[in-house]
Amino acid sequence: MSEQISAELQAKIEHVAGLLSKAQNEYGDAVVFANSLGAEDVVLTDLISKHAPGIGVFVLDTGRLPEETLKLLGQVRTHYQGLKLKVYYPEAADVEAFVAENGINAFYESQELRKGCCFVRKIKPLKRALAGNKAWITGLRREQSVTRDEIAFSEWDDGNGLQKLNPLADWTEKEIWAYIRANEVPYNELHDRHYPSIGCAPCTRAISVGEDVRSGRWWWENPENRECGLHPATPLKFK
Ligand code: ADX
Ligand code: SF4
Repeated sequence: MSEQISAELQAKIEHVAGLLSKAQNEYGDAVVFANSLGAEDVVLTDLISKHAPGIGVFVLDTGRLPEETLKLLGQVRTHYQGLKLKVYYPEAADVEAFVAENGINAFYESQELRKGCCFVRKIKPLKRALAGNKAWITGLRREQSVTRDEIAFSEWDDGNGLQKLNPLADWTEKEIWAYIRANEVPYNELHDRHYPSIGCAPCTRAISVGEDVRSGRWWWENPENRECGLHPATPLKFK
């Protein structure tokens, strides 16, 4: 191992490994992991491949992802041979209609159009990816933003009608990176170029030292509104 794992982090790793294998036992084929290929999600990919390889993994390719993210998607496919990985795309007719009506880069014009683009390119494909499942897993962490500081390890996702598991809820950014380095996990090269949080190319930019980790996402909007709709309100909780 190229980096030390603290006792505290080791305990968190074991906690996540336990949650993942419990989810696999409890939900069988009806639990899926939403993988954005960001730093948190490569950690979960690694842990799923080691402790709960039966859990299906899906990536929503919006058609506007950065080249670096697509490169990583290819690397993940090769690196984790046994991974049940599936890529979802938006419906061509939806994208064509949205672009015909609003233009190719409408998201900069208003929040309504930005959310419309996210709906067509992410939310509708997400609904297809979640259909028929009893639980989904995300890489959300409390530390990430004001909109996420209350997430639980397990919560009822009312909007989608299934359980939502956030195994990394209590991890710090430092711990994410300690895990990546110690386990030599493949990660997005944009992270080395000051992109801590990565979404679609036109809606993500590099940040400066001291700026909030999500400040490079939809930077022209208010911080309270900077969610695409994948994770809307804080759902009901139970641990
Ligand atoms: S977003 O709502 O702002 O886009 P963020 O990039 O922080 O979300 O990712 C939070 C979690 O949402 C990820 O850990 C992942 O579980 C899920 N997610 C986000 N984008 C995608 C994607 N393109 N494909 C699959 N899951 C995603
Ligand atoms: Fe569209 Fe930007 Fe949302 Fe991607 S993040 S779906 S490009 S508005």
